Formats: sequence, structure tokens, C-alpha cells
Amino acid sequence: MENYSANPDRYERMPVRRCGRSGVILPQVSLGLWHNFGSVDSFENARKMLRLAFDLGIFHFDLANNYGPEPGSAEENFGTIFSADLKKHRDELLISTKAGFRMWEGPYGEWGSRKSLIASCDQSLKRMQLDYVDIFYHHRPDPETPLEESMLALDHIVRSGRALYVGISNYSTEDAAKAFAILRELKTPAVIYQGCFNMMNRKLEDTGMFEMLDSTGVGGICFSPLAQGILTSRYLNGIPVDSRAARNHFLKNEVITAELQQKIAALNEIARERSQTLAQMALAWILSRKGVTSVLCGASSPEQLAECAKSPLNSTFTAEEYQKIDAVL
Ligand SMILES: NC(=O)c1ccc[n+]([C@@H]2O[C@H](COP(=O)([O-])OP(=O)(O)OC[C@H]3O[C@@H](n4cnc5c(N)ncnc54)[C@H](OP(=O)(O)O)[C@@H]3O)[C@@H](O)[C@H]2O)c1
Repeated sequence: MENYSANPDRYERMPVRRCGRSGVILPQVSLGLWHNFGSVDSFENARKMLRLAFDLGIFHFDLANNYGPEPGSAEENFGTIFSADLKKHRDELLISTKAGFRMWEGPYGEWGSRKSLIASCDQSLKRMQLDYVDIFYHHRPDPETPLEESMLALDHIVRSGRALYVGISNYSTEDAAKAFAILRELKTPAVIYQGCFNMMNRKLEDTGMFEMLDSTGVGGICFSPLAQGILTSRYLNGIPVDSRAARNHFLKNEVITAELQQKIAALNEIARERSQTLAQMALAWILSRKGVTSVLCGASSPEQLAECAKSPLNSTFTAEEYQKIDAVL
């Protein structure tokens, strides 16, 4: 591939938002590397997507220790591409990673002990060829380890220079409130909560997460904003062979029923009336909700990414449009 030089207009293309009451500022659309960046995927495609993302003003990249497959390989590929193409822009980039899900053998290869979190962070930094990450997350709550231990480990990760900020992911509203209270007491820069939120999964709103985050001064970033591709045109006419549902692992093909396809078609029509694609409307809908800092998308091609990046252009909804969407779902 030819040498990369970043688009000089990149900051005019993507609006940004402040993350809670912190100094962190995120593009409204961020890119996640859960799928399509592993050792089983095309390296050239991954590199094209990262270059395009940065050119589109997407300067936040989200990873985790176990992203791949193979686990760890998304961080490795990111590290290789970062070193070749993006290193000179390090101070513009907001890079996050996480630990908590199964990564290596034995009792320390997952969950939230101090030993596990600090070791995992060191492994991630090596794989990504970074001196520090911008945000380090506890990926899921640990029901056995005391919350204080996991939070003190996050605090140590910041104070030892491995991360600038910390976040938590997949915690319930109640547990997240407890975690942020501990971090506040420790004066740890805890700035962000990462959870699943989209038109079809509104648990975060239903459980008062965004109100809690607002009162705590913490930002919210929403993962699987397209419900892993369901809220796009991908499954309008069946299950494409190269789609996530065809792989039948994280998104089961049995989920794509005729009834669901009818709903997708109806949503697609509402999006068309708004002069948007369904993917763009699904992301815009999230960006229109209170407390959301950024939508954390995945993509399997540069074209998908380019489409998603346009979603903030039209992210206001009339009461009637909200009602129409709710009626379909
Ligand atoms: N904290 C956590 O526990 C957690 C959990 C899940 C995800 N995440 C984060 O959130 C990120 C995004 O998750 P996700 O990949 O599930 O998000 P998503 O945006 O809901 O789904 C991404 C998938 O949607 C399809 N897609 C995207 N844009 C499209 C377009 N314009 N047209 C048609 N199809 C389109 C693609 O499917 P195909 O591959 O089929 O083309 C793509 O792989 C992850 O990478 C990760 O960083 C975090």
C-alpha cells in the first residue's frame, strides 16, 4: 500500500461531543475493532478502514484484549497499522482497550482481579505497540472480586502511566454508580461508560443509566448501535454469505426471521422518508437521545464505514418520527 497522508479536512467532517464533564472529546461516530480486524480477516481491508476512519474525522478506536479472532490479533493488527500509518498522529487519537472477558488460561485470564487487569493492560500495550492507552476499561463486572479491588487496579493503571482515563462496561446502573463513587473518591479520572444501546435494545434508558451518568458527570458510548447489522439494509432480502449472521456465532442466523425482516423494511421506509439510509437513521436515533456521547460502530468494509460516518448530518427527529419508529418496534 502507498504511504498514508491524512486528509487535511478531517476535522471538518465529523462533529464531536464532550464526554460527560471531562476533558475527553469524542467524534460522534467512533470505530470498534471487535470484528473484521482479526488474524482471520483481510489485513488490507482493516488498514483501508482505519485510514478511511481517520480521514473521516473518526479519531476514536475501541479495542479489547480478546478481540480477534484469534484473541489479541485485533490489537496486534491495530499496532502494525498504527505504527505504519498513524503514529505521527498519536496525540490526535483516542485509543481504548479493555480487560475482563476470557483472554488466557487459568484464574487470572479473565474477570477483575488486580493481577488480571494490570497484566492484561501490559499485554495490550505490547500488542498495540503503544506506550499508553487513552482509556482503559473494565470490560464486565466481576461478581466475586470486591469492587474496590477492581477499581483500585484501574486507578493504579492510570497512576502508573499505562492509561490516561478509565471506564467501565456492561455494569448494571446500580453497580456502575457504586464503581464511579469509588473512583471519584480515589480521584481516578473515570470518564466513560460503555454499554449496548440501540433502537431495539433500550435497557440503558429503561434502567436510568443515562440519568445516573449525567448526574455523575460521566459520558456514555453505545456499542452495537446497529444491533450487529440488523438495523441496516444488510438483511432486507435474506442473509448474505459474507455477513455476521451467516457466521452464526455472535449474531445467530435464526434471529433473522420473516417478522424481523418486515420490521427492518418498515424502518427502512421511515429512513428513506428522512433521506437517510437505515444504518444512518439507527445511529442518528441514538445520537438524538440524552446522555449519549458517541456511537461505537463496527464495519466490514470502507463503504459501510463511509455510510455510517454521515449519520450525524441528520440527527434530529420529530415526535411523529419517534412514534413511527416505536410503532414498528
Ligand atoms: N463493551 C462490550 O462488551 C462490547 C460488546 C460489543 C461491541 N463492543 C464495541 O462496539 C463495537 C461495535 O460493535 P458491533 O460491531 O456489534 O456494532 P454494530 O455497528 O451494531 O454492527 C456492525 C456490523 O453492522 C454491519 N454494518 C455496519 N455498517 C453498515 C452499513 N452501513 N450497511 C450495512 N451493514 C452495516 C456490518 O455487518 P457485516 O459484518 O455483516 O457486514 C458490521 O460488522 C465493537 O467493535 C466494539 O468496539 C463492545
